[in-house]
Amino acid sequence: MLDDKLCKFYSPGWLGDLVAATLQDLPATIVDLGSGPGSLGHAARLRWPHARLTTVDIDPDASAFTPDRHCLQNHVARNVLIDGLARALGVELGSVDVVLSNPPYTRVRRTRSITRVLERAGLAEAVAGWSTIPADLVFLAQALLLTRPGGTVAFVVPDTMISSETMASVRRLLIGAHKIELVIQLPRSTFGRTDALAFVIVIKKSALGGPIRLAAVGDAGLISTRVTIQAPAGVQRLDCLYHAAVQPDPSRASLADLGANVSRGRRNSRDVATSSKRIFHTGDFPDRPGAAIVVSCEAVRSGATRDVLAEPGDILMARVDRRLERKICFVREGAVEISDCVLRLRLPELARERALSGLLSEEGQIQIMSTIRGTGARHISARALLSIRV
Ligand SMILES: C[S@@+](CC[C@H](N)C(=O)[O-])C[C@H]1O[C@@H](n2cnc3c(N)ncnc32)[C@H](O)[C@@H]1O
Repeated sequence: MLDDKLCKFYSPGWLGDLVAATLQDLPATIVDLGSGPGSLGHAARLRWPHARLTTVDIDPDASAFTPDRHCLQNHVARNVLIDGLARALGVELGSVDVVLSNPPYTRVRRTRSITRVLERAGLAEAVAGWSTIPADLVFLAQALLLTRPGGTVAFVVPDTMISSETMASVRRLLIGAHKIELVIQLPRSTFGRTDALAFVIVIKKSALGGPIRLAAVGDAGLISTRVTIQAPAGVQRLDCLYHAAVQPDPSRASLADLGANVSRGRRNSRDVATSSKRIFHTGDFPDRPGAAIVVSCEAVRSGATRDVLAEPGDILMARVDRRLERKICFVREGAVEISDCVLRLRLPELARERALSGLLSEEGQIQIMSTIRGTGARHISARALLSIRV
């Protein structure tokens, strides 16, 4: 496998310490899946010097630990995605106290072996019919199979696992079968070379559920926010900043409550480049968020149902952009067609000002940022935008 396919985004030392600090019980056995240079395993080793630690990585150059004379640490070069992992690691299935991992955030082609692993971990139903599977999900399935009932799985997972609609079934199955003890949202700066949004999830295998504790670490590396949610809310999403933003004031109206309707432009970037008429695209937003814009009136409705025109009173927001929470403006005059990277928010006249100032307020910005998905080309869905409370 190529290096970039192995997703070698290694955990900084503080993340290893944070993961180790989330674990309560004194473990006798610890496994680190996809251990790389071993940040997670090292932190666990420091915390529990007498536990037996096994690290495993597919990369033959990644040997986090050499066996020691007390046989308390061992490294195995092995593909974690393949069935029969327990045997390869020399442990009994369902016997390990703690399984740690910061797995690769990539998708892998479904194989019979992967299907078997997912089935045995009770997660197959959530991805039925998918031809590619997130590797982190297969790692998680392997971790659940290795762990003893009551044991702990602590994973650094991507935001998809925590908040995407496509992974809601995975969250439902996890919450139904195990106790999600804690989910910690990490700062985007965690893995230097990427702004991937990642979380630490701590799962107690086969334990009785209950409220789920969520926390967020700020850029200074300290826990900045804490929220507790009930299980059904966790199926929807498990990200702390989202729940913190929507929880405090449920009496506030969502944009949908205010009668907003959201349309996405239909012109792609090729149309933007080749059309003789101007099409409003992400580069056209004014520098100041919320500024009023005047566009030329050259876009008159052609009668074609494809037209999505921005007209006076509409709020425009970037749908896809690295800084989309800052790309918001208000159309004062004129009419212009919008690209498919722009959303048009149309509201009754009396609600427009409230919506615009709500989106630009600190609380609105937190809500937007916590609903944004993706890395690099970050995006927001029309549904997520409508759920923002202002
Ligand atoms: C995101 S890095 C994390 C490394 C380390 N756990 C850390 O936190 O710094 C993912 C690791 O998984 C390993 N890896 C990728 N695919 C794997 C597979 N199929 N089986 C085992 N290890 C794999 C990579 O070699 C890499 O070391």
